[in-house]
Amino acid sequence: MAHSFPVPRTCPFAPPPEYEALREEAPLVRATLPRGEVWLVTRHAEAQQVLSGGGISTSPATPGHPGSALHDAPSPEEAAALERFMTGHFIDLDPPEHTRFRRLLIPEFTVRRMKELRPGIQALVDGLIDDMVAAGSEAELVQAFGLALPSLVICQLLGVPYDEREFFQSRTRRMLTPGEDFHAAAYEIRDYLDGLVTSAEKAPRDDLLGRLITGGRLTHDELVGVMFLLLVAGHETTANMIPLAALTLMKHPAQLAALREDPGRWPMAVEELLRYHSIVDWAAFDRVAVEDQEIGGQLVRKGEGIFVLGASANRDERAFERPDEFDVERGARHHVAFGYGVHQCLGQNLARAELEIALRTLFERLPGLRLAVAEEELPAKYDGPIFGLTSMPVAW
Ligand code: HEM
Repeated sequence: MAHSFPVPRTCPFAPPPEYEALREEAPLVRATLPRGEVWLVTRHAEAQQVLSGGGISTSPATPGHPGSALHDAPSPEEAAALERFMTGHFIDLDPPEHTRFRRLLIPEFTVRRMKELRPGIQALVDGLIDDMVAAGSEAELVQAFGLALPSLVICQLLGVPYDEREFFQSRTRRMLTPGEDFHAAAYEIRDYLDGLVTSAEKAPRDDLLGRLITGGRLTHDELVGVMFLLLVAGHETTANMIPLAALTLMKHPAQLAALREDPGRWPMAVEELLRYHSIVDWAAFDRVAVEDQEIGGQLVRKGEGIFVLGASANRDERAFERPDEFDVERGARHHVAFGYGVHQCLGQNLARAELEIALRTLFERLPGLRLAVAEEELPAKYDGPIFGLTSMPVAW
């Protein structure tokens, strides 16, 4: 029987309740979407197989890509506009074209490079907390901290000049706030990034953009596309994780106390937070088979679309003991919250650094941090592709 998909979450701390039964049924189950059928991958081992496997494409241009089963076909105008946004958007490309971009970007995101960025991230976190404290004893953590930090970090990474940050930040915030005009804000940011690349081309500095320019391997439009992808991929994800993670730690005071006592445990806690929330779930895991193949005992034919349910794979009891329990000690690094294989999150070391520094500093500087409203009143994005809270009033 084909299941209806997508299914929404009903609780901020758990994947959609249907996932457990799907995972028990089979590693691959058939699902009906608004415009067609796809395979859903429910278990951890098969998730890794699909995400790393040959014979699988992620490109929306490949016939049978599941995006076409989810959305109405774009109008010619929308298609032309999308085309402009797609240049340099290598998350949607297959090797060898994907490899061309990835190879140029990998040196910019190594563990060593991220270590160099840590003092800058710490200064931004301290500044945001200073602002919250200066404004009173309550704040709205999503806007004041969750959305603000990744935006500032990306400004630093992309080389946005200090006095242009406010413009950049207000547009990125608008792009990610439900009810705002996403497309208008996205166009403004793309135009802004176009200008940023043009200035950098005239006088490249020794930063990420400057190095990509002097490398001479990417066209102007590809550079703009890469900058845009870094912004979008790194912003909403990290922004949603920070408040959710803070809330989860408040709900587990003994584990939080242990982290305060031994800050060396933070990296492991961050992995568990990523696993537990799996905020991207299937949103980035749209794939299509480009040859007939067997996955989890199931024949998947060329041209059949696939969604990997990351939130289900990360709660698979075959890969994690007591998967529904939040346990910072478990060693969850084999989670698939950053994906797996050739498209595995390029910014994962940056995201880890941001989460660790943001959470550690928040609880160090504001030891009395607590919700300022009842937990049931927190509004969550149950209908968006990437899960998160839309607001989180806190006091300290
Ligand atoms: C908690 C934060 C984050 C989460 C949960 C996350 C999650 C993911 C996932 C699941 C993918 C894989 C997509 C796929 O398989 O198709 C991905 C890819 C990617 N992420 Fe992240 N991400 C985060 C933060 C960041 C940051 C901070 C950056 C950079 C500034 C970033 C840049 C990228 C890029 C460029 C890709 C595409 C990689 C490729 O296709 O080769 N991400 N991310």
